Amino acid sequence: MKKGKKLYEGKAKIIYATQDKNLVIQYFKDDATAFNNQKKSTIEGKGVLNNRISEHILANLSQIGIKNHLVKRLNMREQVIKLVEIIPIEFITRNVATGSITKRLGIEDGTVLKEPLIEYCLKDDALGDPLIAEEHIYAFDWATKKEIEKIKKMILRINDFMVGMFRGIGIKLIDFKLEFGRIKINGKNEIILADEISPDTCRLWDSVTDKKLDKDRFRKDLGDLIPAYTEVAKRLGILHEQSNVSAVNITKLSTVKKKSK
Ligand code: TMP
Repeated sequence: MKKGKKLYEGKAKIIYATQDKNLVIQYFKDDATAFNNQKKSTIEGKGVLNNRISEHILANLSQIGIKNHLVKRLNMREQVIKLVEIIPIEFITRNVATGSITKRLGIEDGTVLKEPLIEYCLKDDALGDPLIAEEHIYAFDWATKKEIEKIKKMILRINDFMVGMFRGIGIKLIDFKLEFGRIKINGKNEIILADEISPDTCRLWDSVTDKKLDKDRFRKDLGDLIPAYTEVAKRLGILHEQSNVSAVNITKLSTVKKKSK
């Protein structure tokens, strides 16, 4: 697959054109940002791990009938994905209250929610991805009611699947962020899961110790981000005997270089 021109560069990924107008290449960078880009760093090896973890989760979701943009992983940092029109909303699902919701609503950190809570944020970096109500989505035509109903059903299935998958490897799925896109399949408009699912976009706590195995290690300056992401990949069974070597190498490379502001 030939890589064409850069179409878009986000905070953690770059999208390149291919010779097929329906497919693009998604490149996972090592850049980490938090608090709407106020905190920035480069963490060597992060992109490699996110590429593998996201591929694994999206491939598993495909198998339970959750349509998504993944076509195939190309190499350590790149995957071929279907080009979609991204719906400009970040869909946050919470099983346990932590992070922004605890500050916003004064909820005690670690409160287990009675049922999964879905929140919507407008995907707009300049505005700091503000929280919105479902009514805003319809008022400003960011998506239709039919699309949101479909997405909510998909989210609940994805959450059920992922909670079970992580529970099986001793990890609690605390919360996560998803993005969805519009695509025409055989002339029919469809909504499919897009973007990535990785420790950058989920909160993952060890079931026994509550140790954070996700990007909170960067957000909260806890250190050892690469060993934590490697631990997630190992428990998912992605890093086998042979690739353990590369995991060790990634760990050795895990020096955090501060970017000049
Ligand atoms: P929050 O507690 O900061 O609102 O984050 C909730 C979840 O969504 C957490 O798993 C991190 C993820 N997330 C992203 O992936 N991207 C974002 O821009 C934000 C704000 C959160």
